[in-house]
Amino acid sequence: MSSGSFSRVGVVGLGTMGAGIAEVLARGGVEVVGIEVDRQALDRGRGNLETSTGRAVKRGKLTEEGKQEILDRIALSTEFAALAECDLVIEAVPERLDLKRRVFEELDRVCRDDAVLATNTSSLSVTDIAVTTNRPAKIVGVHFFNPAPVMKLVEVIGTVLTEDGAAGRVANLVKSLGKTPVSIGDRAGFVANRLLFGYLNQAAGMLESGHATRDDIDAAMKAGGGLPMGPFTLMDLIGLDTCLEVLEAIYRESRDRRHAPSPLLRELVTAGLLGRKTGHGFYSYD
Ligand code: CAA
Repeated sequence: MSSGSFSRVGVVGLGTMGAGIAEVLARGGVEVVGIEVDRQALDRGRGNLETSTGRAVKRGKLTEEGKQEILDRIALSTEFAALAECDLVIEAVPERLDLKRRVFEELDRVCRDDAVLATNTSSLSVTDIAVTTNRPAKIVGVHFFNPAPVMKLVEVIGTVLTEDGAAGRVANLVKSLGKTPVSIGDRAGFVANRLLFGYLNQAAGMLESGHATRDDIDAAMKAGGGLPMGPFTLMDLIGLDTCLEVLEAIYRESRDRRHAPSPLLRELVTAGLLGRKTGHGFYSYD
């Protein structure tokens, strides 16, 4: 399978999204360099990759040999210097602007001058990240959806500073991986989250006001809306902390009341009930 003009791609951060993106790239025949901050995080990242590819083997979608080939295509390191030969690096660290800016400053230092640098941010300004580097024309957003190995959509975001070639090459890579790219300008929530999160937030508001129960709202949207999951199951999958961050970012930019985060969502996040990843959110996963 051709991966466009990128043959070696780095992924910084191997949490749920980063590991999923690394897997998608490796499945598409791309050589991947996966980076984590320290040994412990790298082991967790390796575990994420093992679990996801192992699940495909269990379901008969992948042979044990195929799984090993995918994993062998992903070199793991704790050193940014390992990214020196990458044509493209995708950053997938937590949604904090200061952290992302630090990562991009470092990427700008270690990567080749012609390398394209991409952020998987779902809510921060790509322009804010681009201007911290000396190569703003080569900075794009590439927004995968959770779970990355399954979801077809990838939003490709160009800023007013991005050169056409960079976003176009990334969109071609996305297509070669069997995904559907859509091109979008740099606005909070891009397209999918801007439409989706008003709905998710309203569901939380409905629950809070006693309009209907969690289970009935989920059942209504699953059975009546033709969706694969109801809003509470989906928020638990996304992570309630991420939901809150996305809502806050969209609300900051739009001042649209539909995006003013529901107090219930905020309360759950403060309590550390973040959804599937902590075992408790709107539902419990013991
Ligand atoms: N990682 C890898 N693969 C997974 C997976 C995961 N976490 N979860 C499910 N899958 C795979 C399964 O292996 C299975 O693959 P095959 O068909 O090849 O066998 C397939 O997905 C279907 O899985 P299941 O039968 O177990 O479960 P399901 O039919 O209920 O599907 C789902 C699970 C794909 C998650 C589906 O419920 C779904 O599409 N839910 C909506 C997800 C969604 O809307 N995501 C977007 C969130 S918004 C976002 O991500 C943006 C942001 O910035 C926050």
